[in-house]
Amino acid sequence: MTTTHSLGQAARQILIQNDKGCYTIPTKGLYPYQWNWDSAIAALGFAEFDITRAWIELETLFSGQWSDGMVPHILFHQPDPGYFPGPDVWGCDGPIPSSGIIQPPIAASMARRVWEKDTGAGATHLTALYPKMLAWHRWIMQWRLDRGAVCTTHPWETGRDNAPDWDKTMARMDASDVGEYTRRDTTHVNSDDRPTNFDYDRYIKLVQLGRNLHWDQAALREQSPFRVADPTMTFTTLGAARDLLAMGTELGFDTTGLTEDIKTLEAGAATLWNTDLGAFDSRDVLSGEWAGCVSSASYLCWLGGIDSDQMMDRLRNTLETVPYPVPSNDPDSDTFDARRYWRGPTWAVVNMLIGLGLEQQGHHAEATELARKTGALISEHGFAEYFDPLSGSPAGGKSFTWTAAVWLAWAGRT
Ligand code: DGY
Repeated sequence: MTTTHSLGQAARQILIQNDKGCYTIPTKGLYPYQWNWDSAIAALGFAEFDITRAWIELETLFSGQWSDGMVPHILFHQPDPGYFPGPDVWGCDGPIPSSGIIQPPIAASMARRVWEKDTGAGATHLTALYPKMLAWHRWIMQWRLDRGAVCTTHPWETGRDNAPDWDKTMARMDASDVGEYTRRDTTHVNSDDRPTNFDYDRYIKLVQLGRNLHWDQAALREQSPFRVADPTMTFTTLGAARDLLAMGTELGFDTTGLTEDIKTLEAGAATLWNTDLGAFDSRDVLSGEWAGCVSSASYLCWLGGIDSDQMMDRLRNTLETVPYPVPSNDPDSDTFDARRYWRGPTWAVVNMLIGLGLEQQGHHAEATELARKTGALISEHGFAEYFDPLSGSPAGGKSFTWTAAVWLAWAGRT
């Protein structure tokens, strides 16, 4: 029998194996660079046994920050031909070769949690990081709002690459001129568990567009066919704004504007409520159309500090009826696919973000239940990238950094 203790050892071992010295790769082969939100989660995992290393993770992430405040979704520290698209395709010129898009801005919320665990030099680390985190927040507020909700400009930004949320928007896009390229992801893992070629053509097409426009946000806002206000970006930005306000106040920083930002984002979150669906949903800014999707991101409302009785009813039902909750797509939806990446599988990392939000809002029973079920999933099926929500079987990359971090910081503690 695998004990909680030995699982804890195994989780630490995964973080140590994936540690490249000052940043952590999500998993060997499939993801050989530093990914933005993966890294923030890795920091939380490291904080359980090596607090200095936790800070280094976040500091390395912000060493890739662009002069305008943007923090890229991938930092290409060392060339690796096993991944596509690499730095040459993105054509960016930040301080470290990088992609030109962001990811859910959870770094500030994770930094606050690392700080809470640090009885030593935490305030010094956080004081140096704070202005950088605030600058990224301001960049998002400047470039990504629609009626107060935060927009994604590429499916990869949300982390939920092939979620059905983007289907209608992607279907409208023409990628016939994308040209020849070779996918690398499907050489590492089963192609049935990954996004389709139809989606991939559009991912690359959007990268080409950004590159051609030199990642100029004003031009992209005018010209990109992909602009979707979404629960992932909105709730994580809102949670980060609240955490920035709390940390800034405690550290004595000027927090002017953050209270106003929180109000703006709260109003934006309200624009994501799809009354017909009875859930927080994604909304295509260009067409005005709802995606019509209850995704695991819909349940991030609590992380954003927004309570909802209807979302709570759904969550309780999901916890009771889905063998391994929370599925990334509603099992009753026509688009549900138990294995294909963000079209059904359960992701331990999203569960933790939902759970941390529930805890913050005082929903202790549900937070504990979700942590317990996530812990059981990991202990039965390992530290996989994601899991079939019906059978629990593991999928995608193995020995995954954030699943190990989730065990250490949250699921393994129940
Ligand atoms: C990929 O390459 O699959 C990633 O999800 C992009 O961030």
